[in-house]
Amino acid sequence: MPAKYVNLKRCFIKTYGCQMNEHDSQKMNLLLHRLGYETVDAPEKADLILFNTCTIREKAYHKAISEIGRSAIFKKCRPQTLIGVCGCVAQQDGIKLAERYPHIDMVFGPDQINKLPNLIRKIRSSSPRPSPIKGEGDIGSPPTLEGEGGGEGGFERLAVALDLINTPDEYNFLNDVPDKVESGCAFVTVTKGCNCSCTYCIVPSVRGKEVSRAADDIIDEVRKLVRAGLKEVTLLGQNVTSYNPPTPPLEKGGKRGLTGLIKRLADETDILRIRFTSPNPRDVDEELIREFAENPKLCPHIHLPVQSGCNEVLKKMRRGYTREGYLEIVKLLREVRSGISITSDFIAGFPGETETQFEETIDLLKQVQFDSIFAFKYSQRPGTKAAIEFDDSVPVDVKEARLERVLSTQRKITCAKNEALVGQIRELLVTGYDRKNTGRLMGRLADNRIVNFAGNINLLGSIVRIRVRRALANSLEGEIIHDNNP
Ligand code: 5AD
Ligand code: SF4
Repeated sequence: MPAKYVNLKRCFIKTYGCQMNEHDSQKMNLLLHRLGYETVDAPEKADLILFNTCTIREKAYHKAISEIGRSAIFKKCRPQTLIGVCGCVAQQDGIKLAERYPHIDMVFGPDQINKLPNLIRKIRSSSPRPSPIKGEGDIGSPPTLEGEGGGEGGFERLAVALDLINTPDEYNFLNDVPDKVESGCAFVTVTKGCNCSCTYCIVPSVRGKEVSRAADDIIDEVRKLVRAGLKEVTLLGQNVTSYNPPTPPLEKGGKRGLTGLIKRLADETDILRIRFTSPNPRDVDEELIREFAENPKLCPHIHLPVQSGCNEVLKKMRRGYTREGYLEIVKLLREVRSGISITSDFIAGFPGETETQFEETIDLLKQVQFDSIFAFKYSQRPGTKAAIEFDDSVPVDVKEARLERVLSTQRKITCAKNEALVGQIRELLVTGYDRKNTGRLMGRLADNRIVNFAGNINLLGSIVRIRVRRALANSLEGEIIHDNNP
């Protein structure tokens, strides 16, 4: 290794997108810490910068691309800095990223994060390459490096390290866990990839085929994490309800798939709270619904993306369930677990969506009374069935107006539901400082609502009782109930 690279051990990972990416970044940080890196809070302080990118919608893609472009400046100021792109944009654009951005040293896909140490080694030990490859690929309309102090040819670049193979048999789930779980909560991956073919979705093409992790490995990871301070686990997968490992978690009359795994985790580990995300309504069966009734460790919350309230649209989306089927699941969940919080995702302006079809979505929103939702304008993604087969026919202003109607309809419902909690006493897991940096603490109720409150940081990672004091649009404010002050 060239002497100039010794002791370059500060890393910065910028994460975009979903919880899978968040979790992948945590795993990469862990891998890097094992190599002796420390995490720093700004890219300009780092010797290794990674962009863990998202491409679920066009906006996310462009955000990532523009930040990758701007990052040339870090290389200009500190030429020895390594810059890598990983995640879904890396998988989608591959070598084209390296071609267009000569300051990028590594491009690797979401299935390759375990190879990060090798990629770094490869780059650090390679000799400088005289001239960067000239860009030519079609990667949308990203900003160029011109005028930003970088620009093609401005770098003495090392060989670019690429790793994008994406085949299920090669996939390895990472088993390493942190020594301490300060926040008391963590994700544990149970599936990767997605075998569904929702017509709008780019995920299957960038995250590959579905692979389920062995139940014993998951249980082992949760046990280790519990020893490190874990109270609440979120079982993670693009399509977590299709969890189906080669050896079932509970055989012979026991529960199958995700339900079997949840049952084993509750029985065989000291975990206090179990969640999972994201399920597909088409796989939510009676067994899973019953688990909400029978298993007190399973948190009373489900994020159940519906996308649309109209059967014709759901069919064009290839979601595999109907409005009626979805409403039945909601009804049963509420019957077996009173107070269960149900949240969802919506897409406004799917190709061909008419006013009447859209009204069915508004009607479903009013009927279900979700606790909260995420909603997005339909965004055409390259290579998806919807992009190939349907015209992106709903005009942008109509999409925006529909999105706003979905959001404003839900806003009132969320506010009313949050208001109804004022005065109640609930258990809360203290997960960190509040997001607005006011010095207050933040935590999650079992139903996944966020509560901010004043408290001592020593409480981090513990479960406390809280009285809800005030309801806000997306969170609650509370105060701790001390045992001597009930
Ligand atoms: N356009 C708009 N929203 C999308 N989502 C996924 N793909 C698209 C797309 N092409 C939304 C869905 C999904 C959430 C994670 O992102 O609502 O549930
Ligand atoms: Fe995309 Fe559908 Fe798979 Fe979810 S279930 S990741 S929406 S293809």
